[in-house]
Amino acid sequence: MKNVYILTFLLCAWLAGSCQQEKFDSDNSIPVIPAVSGSLSEAPFPFGAAVNISPLNSSDRYKEILRSDMSRVTAENAMKMNNISKGHKQYDFTEADKIVQFAIDNGLEVHGHTLLWYKHTPSWVSNFEGSREQWIAIMKEYIQDVVGHFKGKVVSWDVINEVINDDGEVYIKDGDKYNIWLDKIGEEYISLAFKYAHEADPNALLFYNEYGHEYSSQRRMGVNNLVKELKEKNIPIHGVGMQMHTNINRSTSDLRNAIMIMAASTRLKIHVSELDIAVNPSSNKELELTDELLEKQQIHYREVAKAMNDLPADQQFGITFWGVCDSNSWLYANPDWPLPYDDTYAKKPAYEGLLQGFKVSY
Ligand code: G3I
Repeated sequence: MKNVYILTFLLCAWLAGSCQQEKFDSDNSIPVIPAVSGSLSEAPFPFGAAVNISPLNSSDRYKEILRSDMSRVTAENAMKMNNISKGHKQYDFTEADKIVQFAIDNGLEVHGHTLLWYKHTPSWVSNFEGSREQWIAIMKEYIQDVVGHFKGKVVSWDVINEVINDDGEVYIKDGDKYNIWLDKIGEEYISLAFKYAHEADPNALLFYNEYGHEYSSQRRMGVNNLVKELKEKNIPIHGVGMQMHTNINRSTSDLRNAIMIMAASTRLKIHVSELDIAVNPSSNKELELTDELLEKQQIHYREVAKAMNDLPADQQFGITFWGVCDSNSWLYANPDWPLPYDDTYAKKPAYEGLLQGFKVSY
């Protein structure tokens, strides 16, 4: 059975590549695209951004962009477990609630990020001692309390974040990465997490969120196998989050193929969930931002938007940027300039690239 899957996957990969071949033999053959103007809000799919409470409190421009160009927000950090869970049955929803309220007041959807991620285990959980059943009980309680708290306000959730490694395997330990849930409960914790989230809010769309699809076919295969297993067990999973923390040295074909293959092989909704396109991936402290770098970044943004635009409508969950403007990006200190708005919230060439991706046929 696994072989059938591998064959299907390879066929999808071949199809995605061959469809592109006529126009994209290499990045050098990308055609000249006419200039376009407009707003991201005109796209046939949602754009969104990861937000933090500090710029939300302090910058009018930040809020204006969210209102004018975005239709969805994700809390960059405020909904991670250690930021919400302060002890057994003790929750601090202050920041997350403020973000959700801003979204509701401005007609934006909220995507929840993320229920379980090995990296954000609060200390009371790390120190917890109990049987497998007790571990399942605390996981269930956390998921259902949080999803229940936001029921009807958070439309979709990353239920599980980053459990697959570069070899395409679900792992307990990899270097300093340690997945305590997997260790204490076993792989079933993944399907249980989806089941419990669904019980708490049957209307919420549930995603598995992962990085590296654009450079690791094994990781893609791992995600695909996981989705298949969950579907076979009738576990409610509605989408795949493809983070896409990528950079201008990655070929645009890699970006497109990753999206097309994941959509064709899983048939689920595709969320490019944490998009940023770094121009300084080697963190050169002396680098200066040039027009050439901005142009490359524009082309990469265009190709991601085009790939999303080319998906069947029911699979276009949309594109979320990991931040709003360059100075609120997690990569800013590298230095880097990975987002479609600059430090002053002015639109960069990347913005026009995104418009071209869904407005121009090529
Ligand atoms: O808020 C505290 C502050 O009080 C403290 O003084 C400071 C000292 O280090 O830390 C601040 O918290 C930091 C937080 O970002 C807010 O800036 C954390 O240390 C830091 O670990 C945290 O990094 C976040 C990282 O996830 C880890 O959670 C990044 O902002 C966030 O962009 C990043 O996002 C992840 C996605 O959730 C999952 N996919 C990968 C992506 C990038 O790593």
